[in-house]
Formats: sequence, C-alpha cells, structure tokens
Amino acid sequence: MSKKTFISFGLLILVLAVLIPWLVFRSDGDAARGAQKVPSDLESGQSLFQTNCGTCHALYAAGTDGNYGPDLDELLAPAGLPEGPTAESTIEATEGRVLNAIEEGVDSSTTLGRMPGGILNEQQSEEVAEFVARTAGEG
Ligand code: HEC
Repeated sequence: MSKKTFISFGLLILVLAVLIPWLVFRSDGDAARGAQKVPSDLESGQSLFQTNCGTCHALYAAGTDGNYGPDLDELLAPAGLPEGPTAESTIEATEGRVLNAIEEGVDSSTTLGRMPGGILNEQQSEEVAEFVARTAGEG
C-alpha cells in the first residue's frame, strides 16, 4: 500500500469513527430530545405518555415514534380544520376518546394488534388524555 493510499484510508476511518457514533447518538436521543416544549400543566402527561404509550404510538409533541399502534397525530388530528386554535369541543371529544382507549384498551380486531387497557391510574389517564388531545396533529 502506498503512503498516499494509507493516509487517505486512515482519514476515511477517522471520519467514519466520528460520523457513525454521531449519527447513532443523534437518532438515539430523538425519543427524549425530540419532544416538544409544552405548557407546564401538560408536562406530566407528556412524560407519562413517553414512558407508557410512546413505545407503541408515534406522537410528534411527545417525540415518540412507536409504530405498533396507530400514529396518533394522524388518527386524532381534526382533519380538514383550518390552521389555528382547535375548537374546545373537538379537544374535549378527543380527550374522551383517548381516555376511553386508556381505560378500556382497544381491540377492534383489525390487522393492528391490541392495546392493553388499565395501564395507568385514573389521574394519570386523565393527564395523558389531556396532553394527547391538546397536542395531536401538531407535527
Ligand atoms: C402495547 C402497545 C400499546 C401501548 C403501550 C399503548 N397502545 Fe394505544 N393502541 C395500540 C394499538 C395496537 C391500537 C389499535 C388497536 C385496534 O385498532 O385494534 C391502539 C389504539 C389507540 C388509540 C385509538 C383508539 C380509537 O379510538 O381509535 C388511542 C387513542 C391510543 N391507542 C392511545 C394510547 C395511549 C394514550 C397510551 C398510553 C397510556 C397507549 N395508547 C398505549 C397499542 C398500544
């Protein structure tokens, strides 16, 4: 191997040695660091979502990308609404739907798997439901 080849090869290795860990760490951190800043009253719901729901569900505001269950931004975003604040009644309806899913679980016998019910207590369920209802569709 000529000296020049040796040096360029060395440089290549060096670049890879820096680039690969950087890429890995970057995507690794996504779940936590990709989370959006939310109002302080939604923070606890956000972190409960990350630990209890994020492995199965993608939600932009939580920075999660689970794909066992449906993408909640797509499923719950009020489709066809113009940009801007979502009507309070829509948020409440969504909150009820999410709460129901958390408490009862979901098994619609589709090709999707099933979602276990009752994994959170009542207060936690309400916090998560409010967080999801207020943030779904942001991404
Ligand atoms: C083990 C994976 C798993 C976990 C954990 C999980 N889900 Fe699900 N979830 C699913 C699957 C799968 C479905 C779709 C089930 C179906 O349609 O049959 C679903 C469906 C839903 C739906 C849609 C219900 C509807 O009305 O259509 C909501 C909302 C939801 N999940 C919210 C949550 C929240 C909030 C949490 C955390 C407390 C959570 N999920 C935790 C797997 C999971």
